[in-house]
Amino acid sequence: GKSGYDHFMIKEIHEQPRALRQCLRERVDEMAGTVDLDDLGDLSPTGVHFVACGTSYHAALYGAQLFREAGIPAQAFLASEYATSVPPIGDALVVGVTQSGETADTLSALRAAQKRGARTLVVTNVVGSTAARECDHAFYIRAGPEIGVAASKTFSSQLAALNLLTLGMTRSDEAREVINALRELPGDLQRILDESRAEEVAETYTGAGAYFFIGRGLQFPVALEGALKMKEITYKHAEGFAAGELKHGPLALVTSETPVFAVIIGDDEKARKTVGNVKEVEARDAPVVAITDGQTDVHRYADHVLEIPETHERAAAVLANAHLQLLSYHVAAKLGRNIDKPRNLAKSVTVE
Ligand code: M6R
Repeated sequence: GKSGYDHFMIKEIHEQPRALRQCLRERVDEMAGTVDLDDLGDLSPTGVHFVACGTSYHAALYGAQLFREAGIPAQAFLASEYATSVPPIGDALVVGVTQSGETADTLSALRAAQKRGARTLVVTNVVGSTAARECDHAFYIRAGPEIGVAASKTFSSQLAALNLLTLGMTRSDEAREVINALRELPGDLQRILDESRAEEVAETYTGAGAYFFIGRGLQFPVALEGALKMKEITYKHAEGFAAGELKHGPLALVTSETPVFAVIIGDDEKARKTVGNVKEVEARDAPVVAITDGQTDVHRYADHVLEIPETHERAAAVLANAHLQLLSYHVAAKLGRNIDKPRNLAKSVTVE
């Protein structure tokens, strides 16, 4: 049941701290600063192709970035496109990211890769799913069953799992720092769920004409995911952009009727450039909501701030996403949408 919540989605949003603990449990050796990948063996890939759809594709974009940061060529592909035109695989490991393990497009992409002799691994939530049975290796995110059509806790757990995979398969000077941030993540997330002002922001912008989301680097997939969730459950127009792309076209859409949600973490060059993009939209009278740890001066240009604590940018992505989940949820609730079963959508998409 919904354990007293109005919808499965909000229940599952609140289950995230627990889901994350489950994902990390017995896999992380905090003393040694290492990650044990269960029985995956020694995969040490020289390259990685991720294939996935929808929310899982956003997790894949994040995962590919983590591997690249560790010096391993990695790219995320939309599964439907990968199967249509399979890129040269060489000896890359092909990683499917699929909550259900049953998504037809993702299964096709994995099968196409296998046909070309590629080794495959699936990151999935469902033990015994088709993808888990067909791939050479399976890594379980252990999020527990997700009933709402909108992916929520499984996305957070995918991000955590992809951190574990990268740490387990590569050498990184940052390993200990990332492990510490992952350890803090369930508690930090709990505080966001308890204290987020996303409902207030949702109330302010329920009547907006469109919602735009921007982010750079690891926060770019978070922007895409924020927009997908908004479309899916509110039926309102929403788009996620790489912050730097705004001025290459989408800026023409920005008006006082289109709130822009900017995810800005840390105070490095990426963050400062995104603050620059925020100034551009503010100059066009767009309301700005900053999802930030407050290390830049973005609050000077923002109408609202959804705060997250200072942590590693990898963990910050999960925290920023939680605010955006709550935002979409509350907009959808105010509009009276069928949140757990949005029109035209199915939990697992078994046709191509
Ligand atoms: O089960 P999968 O992770 O393979 O599903 C992929 C997409 O269909 C799924 O993430 C979809 O985009 C969600 N409903 C988004 O909330």
